[in-house]
Amino acid sequence: MKKSGSILISFALITGIVALIPCFYSCNNSPGTYYDYSGWDTYAGSKDGLRYSSNDQINASNVTQLKVAWTYSSGDKDTANHTQIQCNPIMIKGILYGTTPRLKLFALNAATGKQQWIFDPASEDTSARSNPTAFFKVTRGVVFWQDEKGANQRIIYSVGSRTYAINISDGTPVRSFGENGYIDLTKNIDREAGTYNPYISNTTPGIIYKDLIIMGMRVSEEADAAPGTIRAFDVRTGDLKWKFHTIPHPGEKGYETWPDKEAWKKLGSANNWAGMALDEKRGIVYVPTGSVGGDFYGGIRKGQNLYANSLLALDAENGKYLWHFQTVHHDLWDRDLPANPNLVTVMHNGKAIEAVAQITKQGYIFLFDRTNGQPVFPIEEKPFPASDLPGEEAWPTQPIPTLPEPFARQSFGSEDISDRTPEVHNELMEQFKKVKYSAMFTPPSKESSWIFPGFDGGGEWGGAAVDPASAILYINSTELPWILTMVDKIKVDNSTLRGAGQNVYGKYCIACHGPELKGNGSSFPSLAEIGKKYDKEQILKILGNGRNMMPAFKQISDEDKNTLIAFLLKETSKRPVAKGGFSTSRESGSTPGHQQKHTILDDVPYTMTGYNRFLDKDGYPGIKPPWGTLNAVDLNSGKLLWKVPLGEYPELTAKGIPVTGTECYGGPLVTKGGLVFIAASKDARMHAFDKNTGKLLWQSQLPIPGYATPATYLIDGKQYVVIACGGGKIGSKSGDQYIAFALP
Ligand code: HEC
Repeated sequence: MKKSGSILISFALITGIVALIPCFYSCNNSPGTYYDYSGWDTYAGSKDGLRYSSNDQINASNVTQLKVAWTYSSGDKDTANHTQIQCNPIMIKGILYGTTPRLKLFALNAATGKQQWIFDPASEDTSARSNPTAFFKVTRGVVFWQDEKGANQRIIYSVGSRTYAINISDGTPVRSFGENGYIDLTKNIDREAGTYNPYISNTTPGIIYKDLIIMGMRVSEEADAAPGTIRAFDVRTGDLKWKFHTIPHPGEKGYETWPDKEAWKKLGSANNWAGMALDEKRGIVYVPTGSVGGDFYGGIRKGQNLYANSLLALDAENGKYLWHFQTVHHDLWDRDLPANPNLVTVMHNGKAIEAVAQITKQGYIFLFDRTNGQPVFPIEEKPFPASDLPGEEAWPTQPIPTLPEPFARQSFGSEDISDRTPEVHNELMEQFKKVKYSAMFTPPSKESSWIFPGFDGGGEWGGAAVDPASAILYINSTELPWILTMVDKIKVDNSTLRGAGQNVYGKYCIACHGPELKGNGSSFPSLAEIGKKYDKEQILKILGNGRNMMPAFKQISDEDKNTLIAFLLKETSKRPVAKGGFSTSRESGSTPGHQQKHTILDDVPYTMTGYNRFLDKDGYPGIKPPWGTLNAVDLNSGKLLWKVPLGEYPELTAKGIPVTGTECYGGPLVTKGGLVFIAASKDARMHAFDKNTGKLLWQSQLPIPGYATPATYLIDGKQYVVIACGGGKIGSKSGDQYIAFALP
């Protein structure tokens, strides 16, 4: 295939088609590619989402000589509060732009790491300034825009629900943009205030098409979530230019698929939180979406749930629907599409297809002709079991790609239980037996089911890297089962403060902090003794602003917040008589004491018991290794070319156990120099793998895990590779550094 590629290139050159970048198979029918892979001026490197660099100064022959070129510390990490950095920085004309743990935006000399300026969002957001946790959120990158003359240059980036435009020259807000420098993403979402959870935050940057910035957002994942409307704003003024309703309104295509004709008024999510890709030549934006809220019970959202869990192709100019493919019907497993798609030309049956690839948490890659949405390889609708929960109507089939081969294990049974020691094996077997279901797409049940690959994949937001020359896709994957158990929502005595508070807890908090307030030991903290750590005011602040992966809860009324806090702080007093309908005793009405406003959350009869990872008593995954892998998949043939462990537990390797890999967050980048760079592993290492063989060629210890995606660029003839070391997840300490590597 390499051969036919080069023949086509020479053909292209001879016929005078000038392409900046060789476009291999398709030069004779397209005017050359729009994508320039020599820099890193966009999230994921280029708008086709490839995480590819045409730089080859650092290559397989010299990578072992890589040294730290510079280190930048922002000084605002906070381990107690689990701050993180998930940012993939961008480089424009020698300056690196990225974010710190508290979402300050920095400009650094990209060759030396010296700070040019820093913008602190606390200086703009006075309402949140008094709250030290208000800016502990995440963003995965920033956006550069300039006008035709290059006179007007700005960085667009988001801090929670605010999207700022910042002058590139001095780090000050562009006052003519939006509301004195920012767009308020909570506005203009076509729903009546008070009917939904207003939590809205942008976590993956939007994409620029002409003078538009096309944006998705993170919303709550509960049944009352805000709608995940895709929006485009004028990048000069911040004015809203178009919207696409991911839950169609009457008269819009897809509306007819909803049995409940009011669904669009009640339901939310189906949001794009993972980024997009843009076919600039055709003016098509590819938008992956997540599930409709709430994640694990669909009785309130019957049907397939279009356009949730879908890859959408929209006209970038006006948001018009072009095609879609739904990767999970009526999602009951939180199978949001977790990363931006990759636009790549593949050879199929001797024909070049301009394709779009979408990785998933399940470990599948869906591959389509991006002009019309036709699958490149057949995708089979396979039958799956019905739900045993009254009220739930699981969709009878799910789409399974015949190819490309999955990049994560697809089954989990007793033969897969870790045998690290006989004792560990026996303990895990006892746990394993308590969970009834293990097959993929078994609907949630009170008898528990394995979610494997886990809630965080398989694939996650780090996404895939693709080499456009070979159409080989590189993707890291976590292999860890999680346990999903449904329980009836707790019905408690509302006549006491604590009882009423427990109800509020059951409605809003139980999914993450668990039925016994114990959290899950890693990502979700225990609230069992929260009174020893915080007083009422401090808890109110956390609820008002959210923190990292905990959303804000602005929608809970003050009364409900008071009872909730009484419950958390174990206050024992009787419930006071309140104005407006609260009563103190069981006898006073048919729903004693329960006058809390009815919301869609009250129509959800079940809740899950939390996000429970399957770990052994020492904290290692309960499944046999590998626990984290890096994979290469040929998108032409659909074949998995190689799979190697990513990350290591040195203490296990020392005992003679082969390298196991670890859970991983953050993605790879691939270079023309023959390398795949990735950090992502829990052991805090930066790695370089041979892209042809998967051989680990070089690794370097980082101070803190790099749960982010690296960037690479050339300055004055020198290639740098930079990674954010923010830690703060899965038990890792928090960090505040960006570290750049280069040849000496
Ligand atoms: C979507 C999951 C999620 C939900 C729902 C959720 N939380 Fe949290 N919560 C978290 C996470 C994650 C953290 C840790 C945040 C961090 O990184 O500091 C947290 C932290 C907290 C803390 C601080 C704990 C500490 O030790 O510092 C409090 C208090 C808290 N949550 C209360 C609540 C309450 C009350 C509710 C219900 C209204 C709630 N949470 C709902 C995920 C959640």
